[in-house]
Amino acid sequence: MRLLFLGDVVGRPGRVAVIEQLPGLRERWRLDCVVVNGENAAGGFGISESICDELIGAGADAVTLGNHSFDQREAMVFIARQPRLVRPANYPPGTPGRGATVIETRDGARVLVVNVMGRVFLDPMDDPFAAVEREISACPLGAAADAVVVDVHAEATSEKQAMGHYLDGRVSLVVGTHTHTPTADHRILPGGTAYMSDAGMCGDYDSVIGMQKHEPIRRMIQKTPGSRWEVATGEGTLSGLAVEIGGNGLATKVAAVRLGPNLEESRPTFWE
Ligand SMILES: [Fe+2]
Ligand SMILES: [Fe+2]
Repeated sequence: MRLLFLGDVVGRPGRVAVIEQLPGLRERWRLDCVVVNGENAAGGFGISESICDELIGAGADAVTLGNHSFDQREAMVFIARQPRLVRPANYPPGTPGRGATVIETRDGARVLVVNVMGRVFLDPMDDPFAAVEREISACPLGAAADAVVVDVHAEATSEKQAMGHYLDGRVSLVVGTHTHTPTADHRILPGGTAYMSDAGMCGDYDSVIGMQKHEPIRRMIQKTPGSRWEVATGEGTLSGLAVEIGGNGLATKVAAVRLGPNLEESRPTFWE
């Protein structure tokens, strides 16, 4: 199975990059499954129903979220009717939406997509390890699922690495999101789980994590309130990773994907 994961889509440059490039990549790389983190897709903060539909229309099979899940209030309502949209599983009980979903590929393979949020340098949440455990025991790899993708939305690399090793051999992919910066540690862990500490963002990298540079710089120097952070407006870069998954649901190949103007290009040569 050929799976593409794309990191946080940030505002219009991120959306345009996904909408313009993903349909062609799906075709060229004969992708079976695409998961996209959409937590910053609407002006940098949250996701609207129409934007979620756009990402799905461009070829995303599932859209994951994070700490910005409900920045657009409408998400509180439409998340219930969009089974492909997943918010962190470790929100408190009663939070609208779902922490995991199963999508079916064209060939009938079942992919469990789980989203959890870290607790280090982020809002306190329920235990993400227990939340993942609950989701994967309800839909285990090799039994109810042919592949399992876990998006760990977290600030701390240590927490993401711990999750990778904790799940090694039990899921197909553990990938970090949230920092908007791709890490160079994509690999297959000893038990067969593909891993990357952060997928990076789909957005304008001539920015501070996707936002126009001036106000973040000013605020870090002056420490006084100023204007709202606005999404940067330059051309977006796609960032994420490509994973080949074997018949047992574990990873056999992994490559970084970076396509756009600001970062060194990277492609899965094994699919080209
Ligand atoms: Fe983000
Ligand atoms: Fe985030």
